[in-house]
Amino acid sequence: MSRRFEGRVAIITAAGSGIGAATAKRLAGDGARVVVADLSGTRAQATAAAIAAGGGEVAWLKMDAAEPPAVEATVELALQRWGRLDVLVNNAGYGEPALLCDTSIESWNRTVAVTLTSVFLGLKYGLPPMRRQGGGVVVNTASVSGTAGDIGMPAYNAAKAGVINLTRAAALECAAENIRVNCVCPGGIDTRVSQVLAGERADEVRRALAAVHPLGRMGSADEIAAAIAFLASGEASFITGAALVADGGLTAGTGLPPFVSPAVPR
Ligand SMILES: NC(=O)c1ccc[n+]([C@@H]2O[C@H](COP(=O)([O-])OP(=O)(O)OC[C@H]3O[C@@H](n4cnc5c(N)ncnc54)[C@H](O)[C@@H]3O)[C@@H](O)[C@H]2O)c1
Repeated sequence: MSRRFEGRVAIITAAGSGIGAATAKRLAGDGARVVVADLSGTRAQATAAAIAAGGGEVAWLKMDAAEPPAVEATVELALQRWGRLDVLVNNAGYGEPALLCDTSIESWNRTVAVTLTSVFLGLKYGLPPMRRQGGGVVVNTASVSGTAGDIGMPAYNAAKAGVINLTRAAALECAAENIRVNCVCPGGIDTRVSQVLAGERADEVRRALAAVHPLGRMGSADEIAAAIAFLASGEASFITGAALVADGGLTAGTGLPPFVSPAVPR
């Protein structure tokens, strides 16, 4: 494995599971010292233990990415432990399925707070140390649900669209300071959240989700971690303000049926 993040310090929020855990392990495997932050202390500790068992340098904390003091404390942990912050992955996101008129104000506010305000807070507290040290990289986890609408996820759709445009605004503001800001837009990824949302119908939902992706399957957390690691690395040195879609072709089409059948029909 390459050591392309050797000497770098990274924070990954929502790193106790799924995409965040895979990203923390990936960055640590490539040499980064990582702060694993999650709402669940048990899950954060488990990710950190796996990284430490592989010889990685890691710190973990239980935090709520929607709470300003918690995000500030997360950045402080990186600075106290290792004196710098090079890579910030704002990965927390949350949604509750409900139609528009059935969405309570509490559910709306919590979804926006965890999904969008968390990214603002990460930038608010993460940018100053990057500015002081002369550069850094931010990668936000958006979603294809921020590029198009779904039925039954209105707050999540609105918040993820906000993440994409906040990414662009931050990229412009920080470009002259050697700080790049990008986001990834995953399609359906087979993680804990997709299983929890599907409940007892998990297998059926997984099959249905696989079928709507032109590549014929859901993505894996490791595949999104690879995209995040790419954006965070020097390989992406001319990329800022971008929304990298990693969705197995889900949003590539117009939705119209084929005009001519492809060689291998779906
Ligand atoms: N799984 C998908 O299909 C998919 C698709 C597109 C985007 N995403 C986004 O990817 C990100 C990660 O999702 P995942 O699929 O890996 O989910 P996951 O359920 O596997 O992991 C989510 C983690 O986030 C933590 N978390 C929840 N609220 C938090 C908060 N307020 N502060 C800190 N941590 C919190 C949970 O404890 C959990 O460990 C989210 O932003 C999600 O919206 C997921």
